[in-house]
Amino acid sequence: MMKLENVHSYYRTSHILHGIDLSIEEGEVVTLLGRNGAGKTTTIRTIMGLLTPKQGQIIFRGEVISGHKPFQIARKGIAYVPEERAIFVHLSVVENLKIAQVGMHNNLKGTWTVERIFEKFPRLAERKTHRGANLSGGEQQMLAIARALMSEPALLLMDEASEGLAPIIVEQLQKITREIVAEGITVLLVEQNLDMCTALANRHYVMDQGRIVYCGTNEEFIANEEVRDRYLTLSSVERTLEAEE
Ligand SMILES: Nc1ncnc2c1ncn2[C@@H]1O[C@H](COP(=O)(O)OP(=O)(O)O)[C@@H](O)[C@H]1O
Ligand SMILES: [Mg+2]
Repeated sequence: MMKLENVHSYYRTSHILHGIDLSIEEGEVVTLLGRNGAGKTTTIRTIMGLLTPKQGQIIFRGEVISGHKPFQIARKGIAYVPEERAIFVHLSVVENLKIAQVGMHNNLKGTWTVERIFEKFPRLAERKTHRGANLSGGEQQMLAIARALMSEPALLLMDEASEGLAPIIVEQLQKITREIVAEGITVLLVEQNLDMCTALANRHYVMDQGRIVYCGTNEEFIANEEVRDRYLTLSSVERTLEAEE
């Protein structure tokens, strides 16, 4: 469905991605794992067209999409739930949902309507007139996901959706993600919650310092303690920082 080939991305003069190769098949759930600063968000932003690779290319359903603008990439069927959620705090829940379809009308089939979103996310239905700013963190995250669904993606990119959420909300998030997959949507998950990753994903990629350092099936990854210890557990510096907080 999608393939990244030797993708190099920069923030101005800083070379961040050093030749990323990654592929996703239709219907898969694939994770992109790695410590803070590994380059996960940069990879997702590059797929979405928010950064243009200086080298390499991204192919989606047989078409080169690298170099295209974010709105063009969205119209091709890729949606993004950003790490910072980026919901509109002054708009209501309903307005936040509707805005996701602005500029998409020619590409929409009517699979996702506000009514259907409210069936899937009853909590958002209860809060439909509330402004984004007045939602809890969990509700904001659900809204960010719901908004992405409104653009009717074939591929959904989720960046650290579980971050900062209470365990019960993480459980709901996991359930929602399963339902999204059951709808036939392919998912690329950037996640720190390894339990959620192994519960949901078919395959995992691990990044370190802007490179893919591991790729394996869920079974292989679960059995590979070495890769988890080496690339995914907290570094001693991070542990010290967390202890000080
Ligand atoms: N806007 C930016 N400008 C310059 N450097 C950035 C910017 N955003 C991220 N970086 C750097 O790029 C690297 C990868 O960051 P990022 O992709 O956000 O990592 P991750 O999502 O894996 O935590 C880090 O070294 C980070 O400091
Ligand atoms: Mg990130």
